[in-house]
Amino acid sequence: MSYTADTNRYDSMQYRRSGRSGLKLPAVSLGLWHNFGAIDDYEKCRTIIQTAFDNGITHFDLANNYGPPPGGAEETFGKIFKQDLKPHRDEIIVSSKAGYGMWQGPYGDWGSKKYIVASLDQSLKRMGLEYVDIFYHHRPDPETPLEETMAALDLMVRQGKALYIGISNYSSTETQKAIEVLNALGTPLLIHQAKYSVLVRWVEEGLLDVLEKNGVGCIAFSSLAQGVLTNKYLTGIPAESRAASERGNGALEKNALTEDILNRVRKFNEIAQQRGQSMAQMALSWVLKDPRMTSLIIGASRPEQVTDSIQCLKNYSFTNDELEAIETILK
Ligand SMILES: NC(=O)c1ccc[n+]([C@@H]2O[C@H](COP(=O)([O-])OP(=O)(O)OC[C@H]3O[C@@H](n4cnc5c(N)ncnc54)[C@H](OP(=O)(O)O)[C@@H]3O)[C@@H](O)[C@H]2O)c1
Repeated sequence: MSYTADTNRYDSMQYRRSGRSGLKLPAVSLGLWHNFGAIDDYEKCRTIIQTAFDNGITHFDLANNYGPPPGGAEETFGKIFKQDLKPHRDEIIVSSKAGYGMWQGPYGDWGSKKYIVASLDQSLKRMGLEYVDIFYHHRPDPETPLEETMAALDLMVRQGKALYIGISNYSSTETQKAIEVLNALGTPLLIHQAKYSVLVRWVEEGLLDVLEKNGVGCIAFSSLAQGVLTNKYLTGIPAESRAASERGNGALEKNALTEDILNRVRKFNEIAQQRGQSMAQMALSWVLKDPRMTSLIIGASRPEQVTDSIQCLKNYSFTNDELEAIETILK
């Protein structure tokens, strides 16, 4: 079936500026960490991407190692891009990353210039793209000088292989240093990608202040805690779920679903119901209530999850009573 993008796709999505840059991102972006590997049904992957784009999700987040196998998600995305999205290249923001183990030997991991340059070349080939819009260093490398890693990212921009630079999983102190090195090189940091949800709050302890002060955006990941903050696990572990899938590569595992967490999630759900939201919607609204958040990246295993999750944009203001109740339950 050929794809024609919905002509109303820009009617309801909200777009937020990333820090003090010129770039706006959709408040809800889509990530391809899981569900887009070679083991996943291609037509389903395609429908998820189409549904996202039809609803104004213009940003697709990838990394060299997403799959399985590593590289698999970039290959799936490349195929869908060629089939459906190519005419819309100038309407979409594609990001990729390097920083985790990708190939054997001393040059396939961490943050050397050798690894970063080779990895982006491989990613571009897999996706069939001439450039990515955002290229990230995926995690800090304690052994490579930060100056070398940042210079490699700057080089990618100068060579036209990336338009903007991001970092992910860097602490506040490491982020401040990276910002200074990149400013000196003339390629300002666009955005920091950080794990942030009602359950994981480290960005509140300094990172968001550093980013705001320096005019850098923030994009959250795993704001649904990989599905824990949805109604999925309230009464057990469904066969079709990430926790049951044993996908590895950091995917949610059954033992994370303790009775303690599930009891707290059930109470969280009661607040969502009082607000007239699904639990997923409330968990996402909670992240987006902070104007310093440029966007958040949702994962989805089916198109209905995308359409459910984006409804979070209908209400992301909370009363003090709601916020206090959430703190008491979850923090
Ligand atoms: N920079 C980094 O280090 C890093 C790390 C992790 C992730 N990320 C990025 O962030 C993206 C999202 O991460 P994530 O997959 O952990 O995100 P998430 O949004 O917390 O979890 C996604 C999962 O939640 C479930 N779900 C989603 N919407 C739902 C809904 N409306 N109702 C019920 N269940 C729903 C689905 O689980 P089922 O599959 O069980 O249906 C889905 O696969 C990744 O794809 C990646 O781009 C970055």
